[in-house]
Amino acid sequence: MKQALLELREKALQELKSALEKRSAEELEHFRVKYLGRKGLLSEYLSKLPTLSPEERPAIGKLVNEIKGELTGGFEEAKASLERPKVVAPLTDISLPGCLPSIGRSHPLVQTIQDIKDIFARMGFQVVSGPEVELEYFNFESLNIPPDHPSRDDFDTFYISDDVLLRSQTSTVQIRVMQKQKAPIRIIAPGKVFRPDTVDARHSFMFHQIEGLMVEEGVNFGHLKGVLHIFAQTYFGPDTRMRFRPSFFPFTEPSAEVEISCTLCKGHGCSVCGGSGWIEILGAGMVHPNVFKAVGYDPEQYTGFAFGMGVERIAMLKYGIDDIRLFFENDVRFLSQF
Ligand code: DAH
Repeated sequence: MKQALLELREKALQELKSALEKRSAEELEHFRVKYLGRKGLLSEYLSKLPTLSPEERPAIGKLVNEIKGELTGGFEEAKASLERPKVVAPLTDISLPGCLPSIGRSHPLVQTIQDIKDIFARMGFQVVSGPEVELEYFNFESLNIPPDHPSRDDFDTFYISDDVLLRSQTSTVQIRVMQKQKAPIRIIAPGKVFRPDTVDARHSFMFHQIEGLMVEEGVNFGHLKGVLHIFAQTYFGPDTRMRFRPSFFPFTEPSAEVEISCTLCKGHGCSVCGGSGWIEILGAGMVHPNVFKAVGYDPEQYTGFAFGMGVERIAMLKYGIDDIRLFFENDVRFLSQF
């Protein structure tokens, strides 16, 4: 009987192995019923025990139980393994370099704004901001641009209602700051502005400006030149030259367009500067007395200068970028270069 039991064990283990290899739940169940079921082969052996002699009985009984234990364990394991999805272990080459997670970085325009802020902060300018959705008054009237003034066209924008609009210039922040604070004032105000321009390599319906304002007793055009000179040389390099050309802005008098020597050809003349060797980078001037009157400052007591620059333009000059759309297309190949 012992021999028969050992053979049964051998056969059972083989059947279990085969069911597992085929991943056949059916064969496995068949195995269970055949060997471990209530009417299975092992039960049959157990029921035969009383017919054995008292000397044989304990050893055979023990053997049957051992085999039963072994087959039950094997069955449970096989069942669990069939229930698990089959995982094909990938061939891993542990000598390959690891996958570096890609680390984000700030957008080139954010970096440019930060660099410019740093330069002015060192000259005592405080960074402030104002709303992008703005009252018409702050974008126009208070800046000495009355309703029918032709220069409204230059600062045209998107209207939300008759007197609410998307600001088309950060000069709005000059008024908001002076309404709240008394002189002396030294601020710069970076932010988004909006204009109904058709998008092309040089235009976008949304872009960024940085406004500057300094108001104190005795501030003059020389201070304006000095501050902007330090800015240009710090940001574009010590060889950068600067020139002022007469211009017109309703909120400054006198007004100027500020140009720097071309960052590409260093002033010799190239396609970027149109052969002139000079490139315009910002508008500036002495704060118009009407602007002071709009905020209740006495223009006889205070003077001040203001300037406004386009951030995209500055970044394009600094990095040699020839299309403003690159900033807004979210192409990582472009953005990751900064
Ligand atoms: N706001 C002007 C623009 O959007 C730029 C500007 C020019 C701002 C002269 C100023 C300034 O503060 O004094 O074109």
